Order: sequence, then structure tokens, then C-alpha cells
Amino acid sequence: MVAISVKTSTRLTMQTAEIAADTTVIRSLDWDRDRFDIEFALENGTTYNSFLIRGEKTALVDTSHAKFRQIYLDALLGIIDPAEIDYLVISHTEPDHSGLVKDLLQLNPNITVVAVKVAMQFLDNLIHQPYSKMMVKSGDKLDLGNGHELEFVAAPNLHWPDTMLTYDHLTQNLFTCDVFGMHYCDDQIFDEDLAILNSDYKVYYDCLMGPNARSVLAAIKRMGDLPPIATIATGHGPLLKYNITELVGRYQDWSQTQAKAATTAVIFYIGEYGHGDALAHSIGQGITKTGVGVELIDLRESDAHEVRELVNIAAGVVVAMPPQSGAEAEQALVSTILAAVNAKQSFGLFESGGGEDESIYLLRNKLKEIGVREAFEPIRIETAPSENTCQRCEEAGTDLGQWLTRDRSIKQMKSLDNDLDKALGRISGGLYIITAKRGETTSAMLATWVAQASVEPPGISIAIAKDRAIESLMHVGDRFVLNILEEGNYQPLMKHFLKRFPPGADRFANIKVYPASNGCPILADSLAYLECEVVSRMEGDDHWIVYSTVDIGRVAKADSLTAVHHRKVGNHY
Ligand code: FEO
Repeated sequence: MVAISVKTSTRLTMQTAEIAADTTVIRSLDWDRDRFDIEFALENGTTYNSFLIRGEKTALVDTSHAKFRQIYLDALLGIIDPAEIDYLVISHTEPDHSGLVKDLLQLNPNITVVAVKVAMQFLDNLIHQPYSKMMVKSGDKLDLGNGHELEFVAAPNLHWPDTMLTYDHLTQNLFTCDVFGMHYCDDQIFDEDLAILNSDYKVYYDCLMGPNARSVLAAIKRMGDLPPIATIATGHGPLLKYNITELVGRYQDWSQTQAKAATTAVIFYIGEYGHGDALAHSIGQGITKTGVGVELIDLRESDAHEVRELVNIAAGVVVAMPPQSGAEAEQALVSTILAAVNAKQSFGLFESGGGEDESIYLLRNKLKEIGVREAFEPIRIETAPSENTCQRCEEAGTDLGQWLTRDRSIKQMKSLDNDLDKALGRISGGLYIITAKRGETTSAMLATWVAQASVEPPGISIAIAKDRAIESLMHVGDRFVLNILEEGNYQPLMKHFLKRFPPGADRFANIKVYPASNGCPILADSLAYLECEVVSRMEGDDHWIVYSTVDIGRVAKADSLTAVHHRKVGNHY
């Protein structure tokens, strides 16, 4: 196998390589991308993978992001004359994979585009010109000749309704686009080194796939009907060849856990309207942090029967307002939701793209009249969502999830009142405030489960409950400050940070802070502080154990002691 890399000055790199018989991967390596769909922070960049399969006929599977236009097309033209491409298989229409479809059709207007019906509808809006179409569904096949028979498997809602997997019966490659991908940019084409991929694989699943766990399980079941799979040719990150069973198994396990969640919330959104996608996914991420299962349903691809069924099983219902004109079908489905909800449920509303005040508040009033409890104030945005908007949505989702699981939390608080509980309570800790900043997003949290965990280099461990807002800012590579509170002088800060903040609220309003060299806020009234960087995370049952190295530390009052937290029982902080 020969891999060719071409570098540009903007850290966008192209890489092409033969990965199987007559099959070439064309990888667009985006080394520095640090954010995806605004709500999704990236630690290690990403790649957009496209594939060329040459039988007697030739098919290209997906393209690339428009930012790679020149170098992607140069790379493609370096290996094939576009006039020789017969088919363009579209696995999914998000612009990171379909950003160059129009360019390709300009180079060769005779290419036949192969996609499921929903994807074709999205493509019509993207291309705005006639093109040759082949609409396919699960089980359909396309024979390219020389043994390359492609079989298509619809995989709706992973993570868009338009997703399709493609299996090549000769090479046993399964082209999956977003599914089983990860945002990890490296010259390594395959998944030889699983240890360095674990974290990104899980974060990617949590953000993109977790909110549609049932659809993931349905797709894995359909994959089971295919012959053996030699390579999962993903659209992002390394292709999976060495760890297929392990990594597909993880999707299955994680999705089963989600699908078995005792409590479910459903989010009805409209992917193509405003920025409903980003908001819906952020709310979904916030809900899943609480252990509540989430179903994300695009109203454009749903019907009254499915909507009613989902509302009936959901404890929480989140609805995106459809536009007031041109979305009659979606408006009718909102009426169906309204007719199906009951007073035991919780709801939240959001709107993107500058709607009309009245409609969202009209719906809110109707829901309140039925007795449905509002989990968070309606979220309305008129411009593109910012990191802060996404943080607000995530925190709103967590508020909803925490309300839905309140009985479980109360039960847990009561369940340990025995000798074990009292003994556990004899573990003491200090009192600390963690302050974090990533981009324009900040957060803070009172912490007591903190311990030194390493001397050289200096390191600490912190246990953070999974449903804490700050958890999203404590991933590998993130930086934060551990503010150490002073004995006899901790009450004002403790009281402030123990408050329940509404979604998106500024935790530092009226608090004296100054910036650390890592950019995070230092609390002026703390006894000492440590500047830290997250190195690894271990998943516990209800907490993340976050290990971080410490770069800088200062003590404000040399003679003062750290505030100590003594507890009577071990079932809460
Ligand atoms: Fe990688 Fe959903 O696009």
C-alpha cells in the first residue's frame, strides 16, 4: 500500500491510499479543526474520507468538505479522470461529506447520484440543477462489475435521517460515513493503535449517536445480515480493520444501556430549519448526561403515528417550533404532540431562525394549561448558534433530565443510611471551586472529591458527577483552575457556587476573578490555586474520574489552612 500526502500551509492535508482491491481512500485531513457543528469540541482535528471503487464501472463514495475544494479535486484528478466516474454514492448529505458534490457534477454532469429518498430530497436543495438519480433502499444492489457488487443498507437517524451504509461484496468493505467514525486526525489510515482512539471514539458516540440509541441498534442488526465485514470504511478518522468486533460491540453496549434507560425524553426538531440541529443535539447531550434515554426525531421524516407513540413512552418532550409558513406538515405534527402529552410529563421548547414570538408562547401556554411541567424557559435564537447558546441548550437538557430522575436521586440519598454509609462518610475532603474556560464558554463547580494523584509530574484526580455542567469542559486537553478555599473564609464562595444556576447563566457575575495564564478564571478570594490540564478520564458509575497535571500553583496566604469538609454519611457530598 502506498500512501501519498500533500501538505498545504493551512494544515489541510490530502492523503490517498489503496485500501483493498480496486479501492482507494481519499482522505482530507483537517488537523486543526477544534469545533464541529459548534456544539461539539474537537481535541484532535478530524478527517473527511471519500472512496473510489473501480470495477467495470466506477463509483465514488462521498466527497469532502468545501474547504478542501482545490486540494481534494487535485487529489481526485490525480488518480482518475472525472469523466470515468459513473456513480456518486451519497452516504449522508451533511456538508462535510457532500460539500463538493456540485463541483463533481460540474466536472462530469453524467454521473448518477445514488442515495436514499431523504438524502435525494436534501441534495435537490443543495444542487439546484437536474442530475441523474438512482434512488435506493435497504437491500438494493448496484453491480459495478469485476465482482464489486454494492449493497445498500438504510441507517436512518445515525445521526441524520438520510444515512445509508454501502457494502462491497468483493472487498467486504462497509462504507459507513459518520457511523463508527471519530474526530481524530492522523496519517495512520487504520485503527492499529486502539488505546489512542478510545477517548475520541466514545466522545463521538456520545455526541452523535447516543441520542439515537434505538436507531443504532436497528442498524447493527441490519449489518448482521451482511456477509463478514473486513473493513469499516468510516467518513471520519481512521478506518476500522483491527478492532471491528470490539468497536461495533461498544456501540451495541452503549446503545443498549441508553435504550434500556428507565426514563426517556424525546426531542422533536427540524434539521433544515434555522440551526435546529445544533440546538437539538446540545439539548440531547445535556439530557443523556443524567442517564435519561433520548430519542431525536426530525419532524420532516416522521409521521403522526410515530410521534404519538414516542410521546406516549416519553417522560420529557422537547419541541422545536416549525416556521409559520411552508411547514404545514411539521405544524400538524406539533398539534399531534399537543394532543398526546399528559400532565405527568415535562416539556421544553426551542426555536431557531427567528420565528414569531406568539407561536412559541401560544404553545407554551397550551402545554401549561394541560398541566405539563416546563423544564426550562423557551430557547429562542435568531442568529447562528454560538458556543454559549449550545452550552445553554446543554444545561437546559440537563435540567430536564435531572427533573425526570429526581425520584431516583432522592431514593439514592436515602438508600445508604447504614453502617457502610456512615463509615464512608468518614472520608473527608477539602473545599474547592473548579473554574474552567474553553473558547467563549465558562463554568464553575464546588468540588470536594479532589486528591493529589501524582508527584512527578504533579497531578491531581477529581471525581465529577456525570450530570455536572462543567463536565463538558473537562475533557482530555481541556484546562481549568482548581481554586482552594480557606478555612474560616469559604462561606461566601461556597454559598454562591452551590446555587442552582439557570441554563447558560454566568457563574462569575459579581465574583472577583482574574485570569490565569491558561485563560481560566482565578477566584480572587481563594486561598491558593492550581492551573491544570486534563490528561485522562476514567468512567465510573455515576462520576467521571478526571486525572490532570498541574503546571502552575500559587498560595495567597502562607499561614492559612485549607477549608475541610466533614460529612456524616457517604451517600452525598
Ligand atoms: Fe460527518 Fe454528519 O457529517
